[in-house]
Order: sequence, then C-alpha cells, then structure tokens
Amino acid sequence: MLLSGRGSNLQALLDARAASWEVAIAVADVEDAPGLARAEAAGVPALAIPRRDFADRAAFEDAFDAALRTAGADLVVLAGFMRVLGPEFVVRWYDRLVNIHPSLLPAFRGLDTHRRALAAGVGWHGCTVHFVRAALDAGPIILQAAVPVRPDDTEEALAARVLAREHHVLPQAIGWIADGRIRVENERVVAADPEDMTVNPSQ
Ligand code: GAR
Repeated sequence: MLLSGRGSNLQALLDARAASWEVAIAVADVEDAPGLARAEAAGVPALAIPRRDFADRAAFEDAFDAALRTAGADLVVLAGFMRVLGPEFVVRWYDRLVNIHPSLLPAFRGLDTHRRALAAGVGWHGCTVHFVRAALDAGPIILQAAVPVRPDDTEEALAARVLAREHHVLPQAIGWIADGRIRVENERVVAADPEDMTVNPSQ
C-alpha cells in the first residue's frame, strides 16, 4: 500500500482483510502521514520514505520498490498516494499496480476532482479503481461507483459521499484480484470466468 495522507482507504482495506489477501506493508512519501499510524495500530508494518532523502526520482522509487518486495507484496495499491510514479516503476509492477481515483474516469483526471465536477455541472460523480499505466490516471478500469450530484452540494459534501463509495469499491476490487476473478485483456478488465456475472454484469 502506498499513501500520502489520511489513509481512510487504507483503513477500509485493513477492515476488509480476507482469507485470500492481507496488507503486507504501508509506505508513505510523507513522514507524518496519519495513515501510517492506522497501519501500525492494525499490526501492519509502516514505513515513511520521504522524497528529500533521495537525489532523484529513480532512487526514490527504487526505495519504494525494495520496501514492497522485502515485505513480500504481490500487488501495489495506491490509496491516496499523491505522486505520479515514473514509467519504470509502472513497468515493474505491470498489472499488479492499482489506483483509486476520486472521479468517474476518464472524466476529471488529476487533482481537485470534486471542485471540477461541481464546476462542470455533472449530474453524476464518483470514483474509479483501475490498473495503473504510465499516463496520469489512465489504465484498465476494474470498478467504478457513481453518486448523484445534488443541487446544493459543496465540495466537502460531495467528497464525503464519494469517499464512502471508495471505501466499498477498493476492497471489492482487491478481493477480485486476489481471488483471480479478473484479468486484463486488450487493455480491458474482463472476468476470468465469463459466467461470473458479479464481476462483469454487462455480459
Ligand atoms: C481519496 O479520495 C483518493 O481517491 C484520492 O485521495 C484521497 C485519499 O484519501 N486519491 C487521489 O486523488 C489520487 N490522485 P485517504 O488518504 O483517506 O484514503
């Protein structure tokens, strides 16, 4: 797990740990990220790797990679990790690197998604769990959840409504991956078993 701040999505994963998966380690690029304390409280190793300790991005990302491998991670989850990872890191963890983003991608890539959704006047907003590619907030979509935008919404109210959905879809997506229920085919996420209607309701 990589994170930068509050760690409520990490908490959702800690609370949802299942027979088929566990959280091996929480690594933050911010020394006092509150999410690290959540990991420690749950008995999960927590580590801060501040960017300033490294001369360049490659060395910084090598340190993340080493920490994850040492902890025995099979999958890397970006849960509120507020840095763009370089293409080398993405290739190393290809199809084993998952991000949660607070919008219905491909709408509103990048930052300030809730403010931009309100400014655009969309009727629906939400969150997306996807495999990571080198381009910003791009990659095969695993799961999305939508929430209605209300006429009197504030950025904070909308963010809270979306966050509640994030806490459901992220553990669900991780469970699907851990249980071998999905795979990537031609840059689309498909059900490993075509009869699995839960994973792929459109079929
Ligand atoms: C979440 O809303 C997550 O989707 C978002 O940061 C928040 C982290 O909250 N991620 C991004 O914006 C990534 N570009 P958390 O630390 O409480 O999980």
